[in-house]
Amino acid sequence: MNRRGFLTAAAMLPLIGAFGPGLVFGAEAGPIFRAFREGRAKHPWLTAFDTAAAAYDCENCEMEGRLPAGLRGILYRNGPAMHEKGGRRYRHWFDGDGMVQAFRLGEQGVSHRGRFVETAKFVAEKKAGRMLYPGFATPLQDALPVAGPDSVNVANINVISHAGRLYALWEAGSAYEIAPDDLKTLGPKIWTPEMRGMPFSAHPHADRDGTLWNFGYEITRADMLVLYRIDAGGTVRGHAVIPVPGMAPIHDFVVTERHLVFLIPPLSHDHNRDPRRSFLDSLSWDPDAPSRILVVDKDDLSRRRWLEMPANWVFHFADGWDERDGTIRLHACTYEDAEILFTPFRAVMRGEVPAIPAARMRRIALHPDNRVTVEDSGIAGEFPRTSTPAGSGVAPYMVLAGPGSSAHPLPNRIVLWDGVKEQARGYRYGDTEIAEEHVIVPDRNGRARWVLGTSHDFAARRTRLNVFEIAGFADGPVCRATLPYALPLGLHGNFVAV
Ligand SMILES: [Fe+2]
Repeated sequence: MNRRGFLTAAAMLPLIGAFGPGLVFGAEAGPIFRAFREGRAKHPWLTAFDTAAAAYDCENCEMEGRLPAGLRGILYRNGPAMHEKGGRRYRHWFDGDGMVQAFRLGEQGVSHRGRFVETAKFVAEKKAGRMLYPGFATPLQDALPVAGPDSVNVANINVISHAGRLYALWEAGSAYEIAPDDLKTLGPKIWTPEMRGMPFSAHPHADRDGTLWNFGYEITRADMLVLYRIDAGGTVRGHAVIPVPGMAPIHDFVVTERHLVFLIPPLSHDHNRDPRRSFLDSLSWDPDAPSRILVVDKDDLSRRRWLEMPANWVFHFADGWDERDGTIRLHACTYEDAEILFTPFRAVMRGEVPAIPAARMRRIALHPDNRVTVEDSGIAGEFPRTSTPAGSGVAPYMVLAGPGSSAHPLPNRIVLWDGVKEQARGYRYGDTEIAEEHVIVPDRNGRARWVLGTSHDFAARRTRLNVFEIAGFADGPVCRATLPYALPLGLHGNFVAV
């Protein structure tokens, strides 16, 4: 098969097997729907997993403090927001359809808009008034045939701006282009005809020159990794398809000045799984196997090396850089295993209170002689964001959301790590607030100046946008904008200056 034929065929493979039609267990969805309501009555923080309204609009949000002069733009965020349809509730947080939020910071204050991403799945199910397709962890009786990954694409993980275009991202299918102002869905992005429908993951990373790197993984029938190199103008300048036997789901990767680094955990997919089981249930963790590390040369994608380290699970890397002696250093939020993928975010959908494992920020060094060493940074947290583009070296600042409240098991503390002084400063939200991802925003001179992030206050039933000055970070937000509603808990986003 020629390259184009291979790519096209491969694009159709991964989720046909994973989310095949004719699945059972749908009858259990009703009880999950009811169980959530019973749990939510006892545990008010579970409002964070409510289904969103059909749309959100707020022209002038209530303000405490003033927006700093020079901080003008839009914070876009994305996350699962439709968790229930036709009396059925999804079994996992990651199954819900994506909704893009836009917080606009202007001269008059803050406005907000939220719109669902109108994927093919969302549109078909809205018209039907019920679930038609299975999800990542939700099998479905009488599901419609799945023609390819985009049949079940929920575009619910991240939203990025590149080359003037805005994209809502999932991790197993196409990016969906979104209109930056009114958030209308413009359709799936086709980077090149031969890459139509290929998986485009949710954590692309931009180099200092604007080059956007990304990957996609296939694991159900063709075990492989797809790489994308997209220039600052939005044109694909290179791609590669790397066969990886035993490929596992991976969520993020690292871009250094010279390398792309992938950490592949021992999370194997059962190729002969019972088709009545969900995709998530087809995965199993092998604690005796190592995590494999693939290092790819950015200048020649065919130059690769493999290393190993003790098994761990990583959703997110913070940064990574090359040392002069050839050592590659990474900061990663690591877990001992993939339990966080399987258990807690199923429990919250059933209205239960889970124990949520806390990720530890670890420093991983890949040495030229293929040794791998690991140090604990002493910081617990997730959703790491740094203040510089990929390939810039150790980032001056990093911000993470971490554990900290006795009133709920989700993050409510933000930690700002100064990479130069190697010091951490923390800020804790109120006990009834849940901290979402926070981002670092530079001023017009490119100097890291502000931290911007949302919090969900389940007691007040409000979502807030919080603005911190890095200089006085531990003193708390200098400005808060309160929406007249609470949004479901989201995942990732990015600030676009205007
Ligand atoms: Fe993520």
